[in-house]
Amino acid sequence: MSAAMFRFIQGLPKAELHVHIEGTLEPEMVFALADRNRVSLAHTSVEALRAAYAFKDLQDFLDLYYQGGAVLRTEEDFHDLTRAYLERAAADNVRHAEIFFDPQAHTGRGVPFAAVIDGIWAALRAGERDLGLTSRLILCFLRDRDEAEAMAIFEEALPYGDRIIGVGLDSAETGHPPAKFTRVFERARAEGFLPVAHAGEEGPAAYVAEALDELQVARIDHGVRAVDDPVLVRRLADSRIPLTVCPLSNLKLGVCDRMEKHPIRALMQAGVMVTVNSDDPAYFGGYVNANYSAVQKAFDLGREELGDLARASFNASFLDAAEKALHLAELDAYLAQA
Ligand code: HPA
Ligand code: ZN
Repeated sequence: MSAAMFRFIQGLPKAELHVHIEGTLEPEMVFALADRNRVSLAHTSVEALRAAYAFKDLQDFLDLYYQGGAVLRTEEDFHDLTRAYLERAAADNVRHAEIFFDPQAHTGRGVPFAAVIDGIWAALRAGERDLGLTSRLILCFLRDRDEAEAMAIFEEALPYGDRIIGVGLDSAETGHPPAKFTRVFERARAEGFLPVAHAGEEGPAAYVAEALDELQVARIDHGVRAVDDPVLVRRLADSRIPLTVCPLSNLKLGVCDRMEKHPIRALMQAGVMVTVNSDDPAYFGGYVNANYSAVQKAFDLGREELGDLARASFNASFLDAAEKALHLAELDAYLAQA
């Protein structure tokens, strides 16, 4: 990639809509927090841990992701994790971030829900003040656990509902279809939470359709397997349901074997509203600009298409119309002078 293209992506104002805060935990911070909390680790060094980040599939990744996340114990830990992500995102000119968190992964280890959300929340508020980066939080249910547990964590989160814009669905997809959580999502929608779900990452296109029909989601996270079903692709395009695509994640987890074969270009050309995101950047080798760069390189995307991806990131966000308009004006000004 030319230096000019690198600078263009760097300066492009963008929103990030698919990032797991626990997936931003860098190996250096794993060791720092293990030390602070007197937790012992399976790996002996930062290098050994990073070297273990070679995943054969989603489950292989999830095993290390939950293991790494176990060093997060206190409100301060969640604050520091979130602050580090926001600084990285701001450096990539992310102007707005919609961030997933997995409370069941923590409350199950005895960490109070309040420690998780208070730590994240304090960092988000500070980031808005001193980095100018706005944010929203999305509570994810772990789909490989049962419905009752999801309902219980939802009830525990309700008193903090003014800090949470939506609910999502993540973790091991195969064998855990969206319909397993129809009632939890019904309840969450009734309480005013916006629904999203991971679907069509490792699971089939049918899970994407099921997330639309059963969970009535406003966005699909990943959704790349939708390309296997032309009727579904049409439906996504016609209904303007956005996909939050994570190219480097898909490459690292074997969802696609070469970036040149990634479905993102075909989906864009079919008129689907596609956005580019980092998913778990500490594990997958790059933050959001690395994802834009990988796609640019694989498909030789021009400035116009990259601008379209950034525009979609704001349009697909949960910001209100006036906030979107401000970001889109900033984006247009950038594209006019870049
Ligand atoms: N897929 C499913 N669940 C996850 C992921 C992912 O990429 N990252 C964190 N939880
Ligand atoms: Zn994800």
